[in-house]
Amino acid sequence: MLKELYQKITKILESDIDARIIIEERTDYSWSDIISKPDSIITDKQRRNIMSDVEQRVAGKPLSRIYGKREFWGLEFIIDENTLDPRPDTELIIELALKHFPKYRAIKILDLGTGSGCILISLLSEFPNATGYGVDLSFGAVKYASINAKNHNIDSRISFICSSWLDSISGKFDLIVSNPPYIKNQIVPTLSKEVRNHDPILSLDGGKDGLTPYKIIFPKLKNFLNEGGKALFEIGYDQEKDVMRLAEESRFMQRSVHIDLSGNPRVVDISSGDK
Ligand SMILES: C[S@@+](CC[C@H](N)C(=O)[O-])C[C@H]1O[C@@H](n2cnc3c(N)ncnc32)[C@H](O)[C@@H]1O
Repeated sequence: MLKELYQKITKILESDIDARIIIEERTDYSWSDIISKPDSIITDKQRRNIMSDVEQRVAGKPLSRIYGKREFWGLEFIIDENTLDPRPDTELIIELALKHFPKYRAIKILDLGTGSGCILISLLSEFPNATGYGVDLSFGAVKYASINAKNHNIDSRISFICSSWLDSISGKFDLIVSNPPYIKNQIVPTLSKEVRNHDPILSLDGGKDGLTPYKIIFPKLKNFLNEGGKALFEIGYDQEKDVMRLAEESRFMQRSVHIDLSGNPRVVDISSGDK
C-alpha cells in the first residue's frame, strides 16, 4: 500500500522529502495521493525499483545522481558523472543578472566552467534576445550542456567550447558569469560522501588555496568585457576577502559582494570601469 511504503522509506531515509521524490519518480502517484489515496496498490516492480533507490540513497548517492537530473531555476537539467550537481545557491547569479540588465536587451553572455549549462541556459531562458557561449575543460560536461540547451529549445542562441577558461575565447561580452571550482584541494577528501564521491573532481578542486581559477581569469577579464559590462563570480563562503583582493589587483574599481539566502557571501560582482 502506498502510504505504508511511504512511511517505511521515510523512516529508513530519515527524510520525508526524499521518500516523496522516490515515490513520485517510480510510480504515477503524487504527494497528494499519499494523503488522499493511502491504500493505493504498489506493484512488485515498483516496490523493487523503489527499494533499490532507497539502498543507493542510504549508501550516499544523491537522488539527483540516481535519476540523472536536477532542477535549477525551475528548469530540469540532465546530469552525469562529468557534471557538477547544480546547487540552489548558484541561482543568485541569475537573480543579479535580471536586476542589472533589461529583459529584452540583446546581451552577449560568457559562462566560464559551464558544467551542465545550468547558469547559461537559465539566463538565456530569461533574456530572450541574448546569445551565450559556454566554456568547459570537460568534454563530457560540454556534451551534457549541449543536450540541455537543446532540451530547453535555446540551442540556436548558444555555443559550447571545450577549452580552458579564456584560452579559446575572442570578442567581448556584456555579462561574464562563472561558478569555478573553489575548494582547497586538501579539503576535497573531507567533503561529504555525496559530494566527494559523485561531483567530478574537476568541478571542485580550486588548487592549493582554492583561488587558482580567479587568479588565472581576473587579470585577463577586462579584455573580454564590453564597456558597462559586468562579471558575476560565485565564491566559497570564506573567500570574500581573498577574491575581492584579486579583483582589486586586476584593477576592477567597481566591485561588491552579494549574500546568499543562508547569509554567506556568495557572488562577487565586478564591473568594467578602470582605476
Ligand atoms: C563548480 S563547477 C560549475 C558548473 C556549473 N556552472 C554549475 O554552476 O553547476 C566548475 C566547472 O568548471 C569546469 N572547469 C574546471 N577547470 C576548468 C578550466 N581550466 N577551464 C574551463 N572549465 C573548467 C569544471 O569542469 C566544472 O564544470
